[in-house]
Amino acid sequence: VTKPVATGIHVLRSGVSAAPKLLEREAEVTAIAAAVDRATRSGDRLTAVVAPAGMGKTRLLSEAARLASDAGFDVLYARGSELEQDFAFGLVRQLYEPTLVRMDPAERDVLLDGAASNATVAVLSNPSGGDDAHRDFSILHGLYWLTADLADRKPIALILDDLHWADTASLRFLAYLLPRLEGLAVPVFVALRPDVVTQGERLVNQVVTAAETTVLRPAPLSARASGQLVRSLLTAEAEPGFLNACHEATSGNPLLLRDLAVMVRAEGLDPTMGNAGMVSVLGPRAVEQRVMLWMDRLSPRCLALARAVAVLGDDSPITQAATLAELSIEDAFRAARDLERADLFRATGDTGSLDLARRLQFSHPLVRVTVYGGIDPADRVAAHRRAVDLLRQWRGSPEQVAPHLLRVPPAGDEDVVAILRRAADEAFAHGSPDTAATHLRRCLAEPPPTEQAAQVQWGLGRVMTLVDTNGAAQDLAVALRLATDPVWRAEIAVLLSTALTFLLRSEEAEKVCRDALTGLPAEEIDLRGKLEAGLLLIPLLQPHRGELAERRHEATALTEHDTVGSRELDCMLAAHAAWRSDPESVRLALRGLRAGVDKMIFPESAAAPCGWLVLIHADRDEALESIDSAVAQAHQQGSVHGLTTTLTLRGLAWLWRGQLAEAEADIRAGLRHADTARFELGHLMTHSFLADILMERGQLQEAETALAALGVPDPIPAEGPLLWYLDSRTRLLRRQGRFAEALDMALVVGRRFQAHGGDNPGFLAWRSEAALSAHQLGRTEQALALAEEDLRLATRWRAPRPLGRALRVMAVLRGGVSGIRMLRRAIEVLEPSPARLEHAAALLELGTLLRKDGQRGAARRHLAEAYDLATTCGAEPLRDRANAELRTAGGRPKYDAPLGATALTPSERRVVEFAATGRTNREIAQQLFVTVKTVEVHLTNAYRKLGVGQRDELAEALA
Ligand SMILES: Nc1ncnc2c1ncn2[C@@H]1O[C@H](COP(=O)(O)OP(=O)(O)OP(=O)(O)O)[C@@H](O)[C@H]1O
Ligand SMILES: [Mg+2]
Repeated sequence: VTKPVATGIHVLRSGVSAAPKLLEREAEVTAIAAAVDRATRSGDRLTAVVAPAGMGKTRLLSEAARLASDAGFDVLYARGSELEQDFAFGLVRQLYEPTLVRMDPAERDVLLDGAASNATVAVLSNPSGGDDAHRDFSILHGLYWLTADLADRKPIALILDDLHWADTASLRFLAYLLPRLEGLAVPVFVALRPDVVTQGERLVNQVVTAAETTVLRPAPLSARASGQLVRSLLTAEAEPGFLNACHEATSGNPLLLRDLAVMVRAEGLDPTMGNAGMVSVLGPRAVEQRVMLWMDRLSPRCLALARAVAVLGDDSPITQAATLAELSIEDAFRAARDLERADLFRATGDTGSLDLARRLQFSHPLVRVTVYGGIDPADRVAAHRRAVDLLRQWRGSPEQVAPHLLRVPPAGDEDVVAILRRAADEAFAHGSPDTAATHLRRCLAEPPPTEQAAQVQWGLGRVMTLVDTNGAAQDLAVALRLATDPVWRAEIAVLLSTALTFLLRSEEAEKVCRDALTGLPAEEIDLRGKLEAGLLLIPLLQPHRGELAERRHEATALTEHDTVGSRELDCMLAAHAAWRSDPESVRLALRGLRAGVDKMIFPESAAAPCGWLVLIHADRDEALESIDSAVAQAHQQGSVHGLTTTLTLRGLAWLWRGQLAEAEADIRAGLRHADTARFELGHLMTHSFLADILMERGQLQEAETALAALGVPDPIPAEGPLLWYLDSRTRLLRRQGRFAEALDMALVVGRRFQAHGGDNPGFLAWRSEAALSAHQLGRTEQALALAEEDLRLATRWRAPRPLGRALRVMAVLRGGVSGIRMLRRAIEVLEPSPARLEHAAALLELGTLLRKDGQRGAARRHLAEAYDLATTCGAEPLRDRANAELRTAGGRPKYDAPLGATALTPSERRVVEFAATGRTNREIAQQLFVTVKTVEVHLTNAYRKLGVGQRDELAEALA
């Protein structure tokens, strides 16, 4: 095992001791001290130091390390480097490995058992045992628990420098950790340059702009402080004009000031006005100038060693750097000492000892860049090639070797192919599909022997489906060209056609499926089903491809078998049937989902989500059961894509059931995961559902923001998923009182839905929306016609929620006795159903009409019930209206928060059920993928609702 010996605090401290006094950073240091102090109590924030190169970020982090360590924290440290960006979890490993390696093995085993065990592959270079089935999410979760467990033993602070060079897997962890910092008491400090564009840019932005992040932006030093800094490094007394020239030439950048001063001293330049011109020339490139100056003066062995470290990367063991530099170990120690004295290497403080485990590091990243840039390109390639050979001799992992291979031109070497393929496998197992893709791409360029090329290309395509749909479509298309076996081609076609359909390239998707079907042997029933399901997805997303829906008649025969393909097909057929309000769709969806989502292609295929949508819109409880288990599976497998989809749909289900807080929590979690991964397909529906939830909660402004965030172009494109967006916009316009616009938009939704062959009022209630707006505009006839047709269709579809709503809308239009009659029917339908929000709305309208009819007593009863139900749902506008009506009817609301097991929110219930079986809060948190703090909050609420004082009473109270 190659293990980093220098721990963060040493590295950082050694940097400080040699550095000049810290100038003009009072505000930043105060903020850092406050963050440390806060962390000793609750610790809910991340502090990011953001500034260009040389502005003193690392310096501020060393202040953070000092303050945290003085306050009793163990400081865990890591630093991004250019070379290691393609090393999955490289930064995370730097952070945790030293601590774990130093730990007593027995204690470490305890720590890495349980929930933190999934973190093992990420934090240890050679984890013993363990399977490779891990994917990012379970690793992230494991890392969260590792952090929590370490902090339980002894307070820890995390410091991550040069985050702009971090690998994406580590960044994903940071993004995952952020919202969970609450209650962890772990202060986190990061530093990054704002101007470096890298693959992890999006994630870095996410971390920096998160609500939990405090950003510090250290400014350039003033003329005064610049003068002070330069003077402190010079022996002779400097003239003010000279100091001003230094300030101007460096724009107050501390690194440049420092290097300029060091150079002036080394060159024996007099700090006089007369030499100011010289300074202006040297200033902006002070670092480069200084490096070049020394490189010319130091011995050739220094140059060789410095170049070896520049190639191997910071933190290389001296033994390896010596071998690459072709120096004896004694000469390497001598050279390292000289380089430290010249301030090109970071001083480690133990220059004298010949510690073979010693690691070498440049004094500053810019020094490495300059040294590396100074190597002749041909020599650079040769050095990386040699590094590959040496690392293999030293038994470096494929992931360690691969970054060097990326810098060596292809040569058709089979060994290289093998290394890159294994590196890709490792990266993928570590939850870094993007890194795996980089390696596979380089592997293809080698190129691999012909018989492997198709395999590698197929692997690349599959990995890309997790990274980026566009890229996946390209790579899978190439894989399809290379593959010859018809069965294999069909497998590729299944993924490729889905990607193409999601990209709305339906003609190509269709061709891919049809071609694959043509060549497929008749007995391949399963693949046949999957391909037919692929074809049936197209018309659901693209209205003008309606003719493809006709295939459902022939496809039905395939569902008689019991295969993954037949189940996928069932779900697709269910969606098509539901679209046209055919109640038969429920049976099909239930059949498709019967074996559980683990027996389907999920999340790459849209089949299971189609099945869930059908069940959700039919008000069926089975929808939640199936989605719940899919959420658990997505957690286990670490599929961020799967989590986004399942949480979004579960949020929708909770919305219709009137669990608004729960719905919002799920949807927001879904959005967060969508941001953490590069998954943008789900955004459209997720934002639309979020807007609807917010509207029901009375937050119209926020709803508008959620929809605007999608940046849908005008005119609005005709694609299927946009229907939900349009539908939400319609509702928002009506609630904003913009009835004419709302009516127009509702009719647009209707036209598009119909063009899609859709008429199910459970999916899109455009007719009720249009009717309500038309009513407000005084267009009574139009309103009635729309409402009648809606009622007719809802009656056919039978689901309680849309039927109740259609009746309510009709009642609002008609008013009077017939209105009252319709509302009574609505309530009959809704009362036994899970559609509580719609139930509350019907009660409210009934109470209102009864009051107008002079039946004040009955009115008050219904209005009070509406008030209670709306309050429980968290539907504020409904509650406020019920309140007002109730007062008009001579009553006053008297809300008794519901008690007992039925009053528990879904999240509370999940927690309580676990607690009742004797699990600890920690265990529950681990099981449900939430923080301990969240569990505590849910339990406190549940105790109150259930009227119990302790855990062992829970089981009984639940029953
Ligand atoms: N406010 C300051 N007062 C005095 N010296 C400073 C100050 N800030 C930074 N320095 C010194 O300037 C040099 C460069 O600072 P540092 O390495 O922290 O920059 P950085 O922002 O981390 O750069 P990079 O982006 O390249 O990592 C160091 O020697 C540091 O000690
Ligand atoms: Mg730095």
